[in-house]
Amino acid sequence: MATLAPQPDTVYAPDPLDVSRPELYRDDTWHSPFRELRAKGGIHYTEVSDFGPYWSIANYKSIVHVESLPELYSSEAAGITIADLKEGDVRMPMFIAMDRPKHTGQRRTVAPAFTPSEMVRLSANIRARTAEVLDALPVGEGFDWVDTVSIELTTQMLAILFDFPWADRRKLTFWSDWAGDIEIAKDPVKKQERLAHLWECAAYFSQLWNAKVGKEPSPDLISMMIHSDAMSEMDQQEFLGNLILLIVGGNDTTRNSMSAYAYGLDRFPDERGKLENDPGLIANATQEIIRWQTPLAHMRRTATADAEIDGHRIRAGDKLALWYVSANRDESVFADADSIRVDRANARRHLAFGHGIHRCVGARLAELQIGILLEEMAKRRLRVNVTGEPTRVAACFVHGYKSLPVELSRY
Ligand code: HEM
Repeated sequence: MATLAPQPDTVYAPDPLDVSRPELYRDDTWHSPFRELRAKGGIHYTEVSDFGPYWSIANYKSIVHVESLPELYSSEAAGITIADLKEGDVRMPMFIAMDRPKHTGQRRTVAPAFTPSEMVRLSANIRARTAEVLDALPVGEGFDWVDTVSIELTTQMLAILFDFPWADRRKLTFWSDWAGDIEIAKDPVKKQERLAHLWECAAYFSQLWNAKVGKEPSPDLISMMIHSDAMSEMDQQEFLGNLILLIVGGNDTTRNSMSAYAYGLDRFPDERGKLENDPGLIANATQEIIRWQTPLAHMRRTATADAEIDGHRIRAGDKLALWYVSANRDESVFADADSIRVDRANARRHLAFGHGIHRCVGARLAELQIGILLEEMAKRRLRVNVTGEPTRVAACFVHGYKSLPVELSRY
């Protein structure tokens, strides 16, 4: 298909398969257009959208194909979200938006923070903090699960990872919320405001950085970055970019998986019952909840040369949105994909962490934190009952919840 620029005088009918529209996520109505997209083969070109023309890659097999060819489908050429960088925008280099070889060196620097032995080291602290939060929750009284549990636990997890000043930890949430909202790209005033907050974030982290320079290495991420060859010489924008990557990468995603645990199991009470009767299912249920939620709806790639995917002609420069949210509902891989099945045999095959060289470096930490939450809930025989509709994030990138009214009971 030709990828001509839209003509200014032509009136274009809205594309019903334009899955970048924020209201689809705000109203939770994305299922049907994606089902249609997959039924049509899973590859579709949207000529006109708020984010310009783009290809939707919406089936499992094609996303794996694209992510297996990182030279042909670049993360660096134009970034990793469907929102294009505009002229004059400040670019924040981060390794998720770099190609090889630079990506390899920078990823290698932070990877030691997420090894299995590091997870064992962090787990006692994360478990103790999780227990503290759960023990303070009211039983039989309404509260907002998102703020009280999902945001609090995720923020604590990141504060532990960065050795971030405990009393200021909610700043991480604040900066992450500003950084991860791609709808801001449409509003120049908010874009300026965002930039101001992100520089404030950089200044704060610069202080933490300076306090650790010349000191003995410690196992937190900032110290690891200081003592690595690939990252110690970063300029300020690169430093900021990579910090924001780690904060946003870990924040909205883990938070929204925890909210999906509460919301999703309430929608599938038989599955909740299975899990309550057999805590041995927790590790698998963690994967299944992440699949079902898919906290990042998409990642973007840009073609570096003409190519073909499943008979569709892609041109150099074309934008591709890889819709994980759809691949994880692909019935050719996941039977009864719209349902949570805590004992689903292939739950681990989900694409919520991506695939290939950029596959989420923090996946183990997210699994650890979510698994601990489920274990500590089970120990206390606590059940989450949803008491009203959630409000959802209105955007096609971060896929999640702003609030979720709940009440706890014991089983
Ligand atoms: C990359 C999802 C938790 C840090 C990614 C990617 C996805 C993702 C989809 C891009 C993969 C690709 O392009 O193929 C998630 C989900 C999480 C989660 C669903 C939770 C359930 C975390 C945590 C951290 C983190 C806890 C760190 C604190 C990163 C980083 C990258 C990344 C640094 C870039 C990796 C690279 O480019 O090599 N994540 N993430 N993520 N994530 Fe996560």
